[in-house]
Amino acid sequence: MPQAVKDIPAVDFDKIRKDFSVLNQTVNGQPLVYLDNAASSQMPKQVADRMDHYHRHEHANVHRGIHTLSQKATDAYEEARTKVQELIHADHEYEVIYTTGTTDSLNLVANSYGLENLSKGDEIILTEMEHHANIVPWQMIAKKTGAIIKVIPVTDSGELDLEAYKDLITSSTKIVSVVHVSNALGTMNPIKKIGEIAHENGAVLVVDGAQAVPHQAVDVQDIDADFYAFSAHKMCGPTGFGILYGKKKLLDAMPPYRGGGDMIDKVSFEETTFNVVPFRFEAGTPPISAAVGFSAALDYLNDIGMDQIETREHELVNYAVERVTKIDGLKLVGNSANRASVVSFVFDDIHASDLGMILDKRGIAVRTGHHCAQPVLRRFGVPATTRASLSFYNTKDDIDRLVDGIEYAKTFFE
Ligand code: ALA
Repeated sequence: MPQAVKDIPAVDFDKIRKDFSVLNQTVNGQPLVYLDNAASSQMPKQVADRMDHYHRHEHANVHRGIHTLSQKATDAYEEARTKVQELIHADHEYEVIYTTGTTDSLNLVANSYGLENLSKGDEIILTEMEHHANIVPWQMIAKKTGAIIKVIPVTDSGELDLEAYKDLITSSTKIVSVVHVSNALGTMNPIKKIGEIAHENGAVLVVDGAQAVPHQAVDVQDIDADFYAFSAHKMCGPTGFGILYGKKKLLDAMPPYRGGGDMIDKVSFEETTFNVVPFRFEAGTPPISAAVGFSAALDYLNDIGMDQIETREHELVNYAVERVTKIDGLKLVGNSANRASVVSFVFDDIHASDLGMILDKRGIAVRTGHHCAQPVLRRFGVPATTRASLSFYNTKDDIDRLVDGIEYAKTFFE
């Protein structure tokens, strides 16, 4: 049992781990050690059971049905919106838009807010540590509008160079779009400070929060984020579902991104008028069971407590850094003091893919490659890293198994 920290009550994480049946299996004859949580976390039985119950007893299409089952499905589907509002401390539940995930959320902002508000010569500021999902949509919009992309550089320790950011930003900067926690480095960015500088210069702050919301309490009003994106499947929920938070006054002024289904008010061949926010951005039959599952996932996380999760993962990630940095020849890629749940590393003489394959033979699941963040790997002069990413259900024993596995893999390259 972990020690109680400050006034945070202790949580029995060994008991919690038993909710994740997927962890209780052997892979290649060894007990599974799952350290690929940044790619996708696992689903506890409570969430799987809730989705199963929905499919067996409650399923119908939402919003458009007068019949009881459709209303029941609509209630279950809409419940997630209120829970997300509470989770991220949004002012209104209609500031919570359902999407298919972080990538879809960022594409929505780029294609609706970006296309509407950017003109030739306007600037979009990104960072060198962005995931491709927060680079490519902006490049596509910059091409259409004539806007210019500027990039905040990353320091040797894997942090954003805030002085360089202050020099880059101008009165032509309209959008600053930044990752909250880097999926490739684990760096937790000072997002509130970045937002303050953006706002002082008249720009809006867009945050890719995919790797932040699963690991800590996030308050979008405190951060003063204009838009904030994240995914359900990285926080014990199903795939194919995510959230875009946006400030109401911005969303109200934004044109729809996709047409059809729930996003209309009246349609004729002469003219179509659009629904109110958030439905204006939710065209077509949505991923209903995924919303129901996410609602259950949020209950699950809330029952543990986001503060407890943060404390637990902090302890695990510090232990992982302490242990792996003692391995001869291992170099961390990203060494920020403000780190969340990710440890990325390389060896001069062992390719990440080879290491990943040897670890897999010992039942240890890590991710190897560029992690959809090629620019930041290029910044560190490496084509690929090995990345171990943690969740609250991991244990110190998982980390010990990782370290033993790396030591074993090294013997092949001596
Ligand atoms: N972007 C996800 C990751 O970091 C898939 O692995």
